[in-house]
Amino acid sequence: MALVSRRSDGIAGEVRVPGDKSISHRALMIATQSVGETRIAGLLEGADVMASAVALRSLGADVSRQPDGVWRVLGRGVGGLAEPDAVLDLGNAGTGARLLMGLLSTHPFASFLTGDESLCRRPMERVMAPLRPMGAAFTARTGGRLPIAVVGAQDPIPGSYEMPVASAQVKSAVLLAGLNAPGVTSVFESRSTRDHTETLLRHFGAEVWSEAASNRVGCWISVRGQPELSPAPITVPGDFSSATFPLVAALIAPGSELGLAGVGVNPLRTGLLETLREMGADVVIENRRIDAGEPVADLRVRGGPLRGVDVPAERVAAMIDEFPAFAVAAACAEGVSRMRDVGELRVKESDRLQAIAEGLRACGVVVAESDDALVIHGAGRPPAGGATVKARMDHRIAMAFLVLGCASETPVAIDDADPIHTSFPGFVDLMNGIGARIAEVPA
Ligand code: S3P
Repeated sequence: MALVSRRSDGIAGEVRVPGDKSISHRALMIATQSVGETRIAGLLEGADVMASAVALRSLGADVSRQPDGVWRVLGRGVGGLAEPDAVLDLGNAGTGARLLMGLLSTHPFASFLTGDESLCRRPMERVMAPLRPMGAAFTARTGGRLPIAVVGAQDPIPGSYEMPVASAQVKSAVLLAGLNAPGVTSVFESRSTRDHTETLLRHFGAEVWSEAASNRVGCWISVRGQPELSPAPITVPGDFSSATFPLVAALIAPGSELGLAGVGVNPLRTGLLETLREMGADVVIENRRIDAGEPVADLRVRGGPLRGVDVPAERVAAMIDEFPAFAVAAACAEGVSRMRDVGELRVKESDRLQAIAEGLRACGVVVAESDDALVIHGAGRPPAGGATVKARMDHRIAMAFLVLGCASETPVAIDDADPIHTSFPGFVDLMNGIGARIAEVPA
């Protein structure tokens, strides 16, 4: 289904976005490794997380939604998953596929993983490399792509791995593999990435610690293997990454004021807030609290002029999923915005550097793209718009351009709204409820 977004008269109201995707995948997976019943409130019921739930059921875990909307997982203990009868299809979910590969690599059976066209294009060698020395074997398509057969270790070996790319998915895959290996498994990261896996593992009673390296910049993160994990209730916070779409809409549509309740504000995720503030955005964080180890807060944002900014390379990991939303803000800002060291964006759900550059150009914005950088020339007012942008099976590209349409002079359309369901069910209704004008394009 194609959608079109017309200029809004202002974004206003109080909303709550769906649960955090990263935490939802982890909550389900880690709960299966505990002994007993875990109750998860606020789980994201988007297609990505549902694919993880189905895969975990195929692996013998009892995962169900209760009538009150709380999810219940009956854990099987560390290393307790069972060989699945059928292929595990993770759909569009990179997090689901990579974290599950970690978990499965120390379970002593064979499983076969696949995904949709977008996921089958994404690089998986980055997770297989650290898992082989732990005893797992993989058969992958050329280029280390899905579908992939995983044969888990009979006698898992604890891992020690220095990550060449800053990736929370790789780190988490190794730590989850380490859960069922005797002894200590450690991962080195030179730049901090989201730490939801560490936080949740601790929440379930695992021993997880991090130590700064003595001889260079970075941190070793370790887990002691084969713990007995105890179920602990979880409330999943609202997804900061999802919140950024209505938030940026409110920033660029004149006369807006928006409240977002119960949003996860883990500092390893909220790099975009710092960037937006440097651009002059009025965003206030209220009612900070901690839930299941994760910082949560309410956000209040008021529309106003933005200026161009340089995103420091050290902040890229903390806003890795927010570049599509950021690009929309940059396109409306006064002056030039630059992002460098963002080559990782080429291997997300789509090649996001290309998708952003092409989409913005079609909307009348001057953009320069190189291998791992993007420069956006903002004119100090929303661009012309008037284009149909390809969503490329990428939820965040689809949502970002609908947000641009909330402010652009003429409407912005996307050719396919389907990918939005992977992370943000109810996006269109939520946006229209606060003043957006998003509608189906008649066939
Ligand atoms: C995620 C980590 C990031 C992010 C992705 C979710 C996670 O990927 O882009 O959307 O839940 O661990 P990388 O680890 O590949 O950077």
